[in-house]
Amino acid sequence: MRSTRPRFLRSGLVSALTGLTALGALLFAAPGAQAADTPLRDLAAAKGKLIGSAVNPAKLTGTYGDIAGREFNTVTPDNAMKWESVEPSRGTYNWGPADQVVAFAAAHGQQVRGHTLVWHSQNPGWLANGSWTPAQLSTILQDHIAAEAGRYKGRIAAWDVVNEPFNEDGTYRSSIWYNGLGQDYIANALTWARAADPSAELYINDYNVEGVNAKSTALYNLVRSLKQRGVPIDGVGLQAHLILGQVPATLQQNIQRFADLGVDVAITELDVRMQLPSTSAKLTQQAADYKAVADACVAVARCVGVTVWGFTDSDSWVPDVFSGYGAATPYDEAFAPKPAYHAIAGSLGGTTTPPDPGTGCTAAYSVVNQWNSGFTGQVRISCAGAALSSWKATWTFGAGQTLTQAWNADCTQSGAAVTCTNASYNGTVPDGGSVTFGFNASWNGSNPVPVVTLGRTP
Ligand code: XIL
Repeated sequence: MRSTRPRFLRSGLVSALTGLTALGALLFAAPGAQAADTPLRDLAAAKGKLIGSAVNPAKLTGTYGDIAGREFNTVTPDNAMKWESVEPSRGTYNWGPADQVVAFAAAHGQQVRGHTLVWHSQNPGWLANGSWTPAQLSTILQDHIAAEAGRYKGRIAAWDVVNEPFNEDGTYRSSIWYNGLGQDYIANALTWARAADPSAELYINDYNVEGVNAKSTALYNLVRSLKQRGVPIDGVGLQAHLILGQVPATLQQNIQRFADLGVDVAITELDVRMQLPSTSAKLTQQAADYKAVADACVAVARCVGVTVWGFTDSDSWVPDVFSGYGAATPYDEAFAPKPAYHAIAGSLGGTTTPPDPGTGCTAAYSVVNQWNSGFTGQVRISCAGAALSSWKATWTFGAGQTLTQAWNADCTQSGAAVTCTNASYNGTVPDGGSVTFGFNASWNGSNPVPVVTLGRTP
């Protein structure tokens, strides 16, 4: 009998260690800071759900690795398992980055979502540009699935076997596979995947299939017919690359209709992009959008969970692909949790809320002097009803401003992301007191005031 529930691989030891880490975080955390919040994965597990992120194996160290390991109970390699990554030239395999993700997941008690075996995109040149008879193409595909799904046999909870098979109008997408093999490439791929790794849940994954529409109905009809024919299909992945304020009203209804067909549903690539620059109003709307998606999944038993397509704005595909858009993930570029993070936590039953500016400690940013190419700014950290023994202020310079100098804090800038931590002598902010630090920076064109997030030091 195949399990349709998420399997939790987390060992007692890992839980115990994470518990200790959480205790450490509590001791170090400023009152009202984020560190003591329950990790998303623990909230999700208590609801029998998965919470995941796409991850880039090259980045899985430092803060990125800490957050990836702490917050998520499933990970998806962002590109490392795609055909062009694993077999760049015919017969020459590069499993290193994919292996890294699988090893990271094992070390952190996480599931792996395999992505993806059959797709029209990110195929190696030798495959995409070759000319193949249908028989050759079929053999190539079968061999690929046997090689990749076989390599990770038993270690992949779910495979996105087929990615993006449909056009917007519900017809089959023209691709090397459809053009060469007809629509049965899908059934064959699923059958070969089952043979290669009998324990993996097998999915078809697509975008713009979140609401009830022509494309999702085509997917629905395909899944129904595959099930009728006895083809192995365990789930559908709704990518959910969404635009701010545009969560489909029929999302939950759509999830439910797939569930009623007898398959699982996963939100596999959630992000909510906004036109830059981000503003606090947009971040609030984004939080509502993330919550709406997570709520819809929580509401349907067969929705196994939500994976975000990158957890930090510093590692999102959005700015590269959607010109003028960004800030699509739950953490900002400096790894500070955004309102969207707290919205996901809330949807998963967490009681976490962002620090209340009225009762905790707040950071106020101001420009104190400005001339044609530069300016002097300051940040005042004030506490009322709380106190700090260390602090970290982070913000994003939205218009190309660049720090040149800082005082009364240690500041670094990486891209647009600025992080300032207390100097050795001013980490303490007493209840009712404040600390101020300053900086010089260059500007050009405009000099908008960013929102500062206050957190603990690492
Ligand atoms: C994206 C990656 O995030 C990018 O780094 C890459 O350049 C292009 O692909 N749907 C999918 C994912 O199924 O594989 C895509 O990932 C995003 C859209």
